Amino acid sequence: MISERWTASAVEGLISLPLESLLTGDYEADPALVHERLRTRYGPVAPIDVMGVPVWFAMGYDEVLHIMQNAREVWSKRVDHWRAYAEGRVPADWPLLALLQADNSGFHDGERHRGLRGAWIAGLRPFQEPGSEQAQRLERAMVRYCDDLVGVIAEGGPAGSADLAAQYARPFPLLVANHLLGVTIERGEELLEDQWRLLDGADSAGAYQRLHAALLELATVKRQRRGDDLPSYMIEAKPDLTDEELARELMMLSGFLDFTGSLICNVILEAITNPRLRESLSVGAIEEVVNRVALANPALANLTFRYARTEVKLGRFTIAAGDPVMLSIAGAHADPRFAGALARDTIRSTRAHLAWGAGPHRCPSQRLATQMSTIAVRRLLDRFSTLKPALPSGRLPWRPSPFVRALRALPVHYELSRSFSGTPRPESGGEPSPPALKDATQDGGDGRPRSGLLAFLRRLRRTQ
Ligand code: HEM
Repeated sequence: MISERWTASAVEGLISLPLESLLTGDYEADPALVHERLRTRYGPVAPIDVMGVPVWFAMGYDEVLHIMQNAREVWSKRVDHWRAYAEGRVPADWPLLALLQADNSGFHDGERHRGLRGAWIAGLRPFQEPGSEQAQRLERAMVRYCDDLVGVIAEGGPAGSADLAAQYARPFPLLVANHLLGVTIERGEELLEDQWRLLDGADSAGAYQRLHAALLELATVKRQRRGDDLPSYMIEAKPDLTDEELARELMMLSGFLDFTGSLICNVILEAITNPRLRESLSVGAIEEVVNRVALANPALANLTFRYARTEVKLGRFTIAAGDPVMLSIAGAHADPRFAGALARDTIRSTRAHLAWGAGPHRCPSQRLATQMSTIAVRRLLDRFSTLKPALPSGRLPWRPSPFVRALRALPVHYELSRSFSGTPRPESGGEPSPPALKDATQDGGDGRPRSGLLAFLRRLRRTQ
């Protein structure tokens, strides 16, 4: 519902139009139907309200791509270009405000953005370069993480029930985060649990504070003693990056890894509900499934806002300078102009989807996120001879969110493959955690203590 602060203000453009709330039960159950309704009524761009705040919702493929590419720099990602925000009309407690105000590369333009983005690209390069030592080490670690997670599930017996979201798809990227960050496994568990809390809402404010403090400490440690890890490579690429700036960039990892967990869930769902897929799941075939799921059910369904710097025509409307536009990737993929062209198999290939963004803010980690998804799904299908959804697809619970399309749980019935013993590595007997984050590029490889990790996962299993 739009509050009086909007209707009482200068009544023109966006706020003078009837606004449909985006986040309703209908949207949670079936966003595609809501997109279709909006598209029929308004065309490729619709006026909506997001948690009480008026926003334009772009769902046309051409419009979304055009804004992402931002060819003539008409669009800004900086919140201070939002007219309603500058005029104090956005309530201080509006739930999305803290995210949009974040001082990191995702919310800057121009030179400042290019500098921070350059640090990300350089920091991720060693992990994404095929055949590099760091990429190979990361790949081995990913396989081990998958096996550890399956090992904990298997403690429930050779056949049984599991929640593959909580016990597999979501913790896996967090384990990868610890590897990328280059933290000791003991202290890494605190980070891991706080990232989990941050994303799940339970003690989210406390988790944010602790995570920020830990990442700031990590930035300081890495500046003094570099390792083969993302923060060290980022410092190397941009030595003038302050510890505070680096910590703020690294805070973004939680969100990105959450999208990765969501994508993995969506791919697992596709793989276990489509029996034909299981027969031919080579690496290449799984990569293609990841690509198709990213198109049909993008984990990051809608993006944070862009603000018009000048008045601009979009769809059937004129967008006033300072208006916010939310880009809908899911909506753009369903646009008949795009989907229709795909169906006819013409110039627009399935690779022309926008799940990784486009233009100056395009995801610098597509290869890594695709590899994580491919390994996680391949390993899971190797380890289990049977995986059947425990709920019909219409009853699967989705997380209510303006941005992600993510399963809250993915309950399955499973049977382990005979070839997999499922015995997790022995616990070490609880060694004390070190007082500070230590530089450690080993990521809990064979022979290193893993008691905290296993305990954490067992707790997840019990709290399902
Ligand atoms: C399935 C997983 C992922 C998806 C779907 C995804 C998608 C995206 C998209 C659509 C954007 C553009 C946002 C915009 O234009 O507003 C983006 C940006 C970004 N992504 Fe990813 N991403 C994923 C995983 C990751 C991972 C694992 C990392 C890091 C390890 C990462 C790092 C980034 C960064 C740093 C940006 C900001 C780039 C910039 O503003 O220049 N992403 N991602």
